[in-house]
Amino acid sequence: MEKRGPTVEVIIKQDADELARLAADAIGRLLARKPDAVLGLATGSSPLPIYAELVRRYEAGQMSFSRATAFTLDEYVGLDPEHPEAYRNVIRRELTGRVDFDPGAVHSPHGAAENVAAACQAYEDAIAMAGGVDLQILGVGTDGHIAFNEPASSLASRTRIKMLTDQTRRDNARFFDGDLDAVPQHSITQGLGTIMAARHLVLIATGEGKAAAIEQLVEGPVSALWPATIMQHHPHATVLVDEAAAGRLSRAEYYRETFAKKPERQQF
Ligand code: GLP
Repeated sequence: MEKRGPTVEVIIKQDADELARLAADAIGRLLARKPDAVLGLATGSSPLPIYAELVRRYEAGQMSFSRATAFTLDEYVGLDPEHPEAYRNVIRRELTGRVDFDPGAVHSPHGAAENVAAACQAYEDAIAMAGGVDLQILGVGTDGHIAFNEPASSLASRTRIKMLTDQTRRDNARFFDGDLDAVPQHSITQGLGTIMAARHLVLIATGEGKAAAIEQLVEGPVSALWPATIMQHHPHATVLVDEAAAGRLSRAEYYRETFAKKPERQQF
């Protein structure tokens, strides 16, 4: 695929709901063109407005996921699969269980597998068998991680087990009633190479806490120390940010103007 522009496309909007509508538009266009599309789904709080918008459009009869397939990015290791914060349950609660996905078409890494290496390979194989991910939703960690590819992850990595950093565990403790000890130490995560194989990457980030990661992602040097910077090498990557997350971008005006003047406005 030809790379479309010099780097990722940055879209800056006032609030998360506007960003969510743009992402839902992109997913809607994909499903209209390809009802059996493969969606990559992220957990974390950033994509929640997107999922809420998708549920709203589904309930309004504007969208159907009945022929679509989904793969989540990652899963905690060492957490009971029935735990409400296991990502397979989070994604069901926030999206897939609220729309018409076939439950068998929603896949997550097997965090409780005895043979982790085999589970990782099986996940890679399942994505390949499904024809690859058409559109991957992403959030970003405050330290620039995507999925659970923590700083210093191999930029070519595939699905594997990763140890979470203290920073990520502290960030995620809010999902475990603030109890840091309850946050698992490991995860199975799609690798950066796995994520880069998706045909379209759509990352959403809101709030000042993400400004440094977004600055690096868009304008920094590509570096394993800020894993999301690998997206600069993707042929079709879109970064949706609110004003706060865009706060450290030196070329924010340029990105705004570029999007405003785009002939097929709002299409990305
Ligand atoms: C976790 C997830 C990531 C997510 C990140 C940011 O670490 N594994 O996929 O992007 O959190 O989460 P939030 O959007 O809640 O800030």
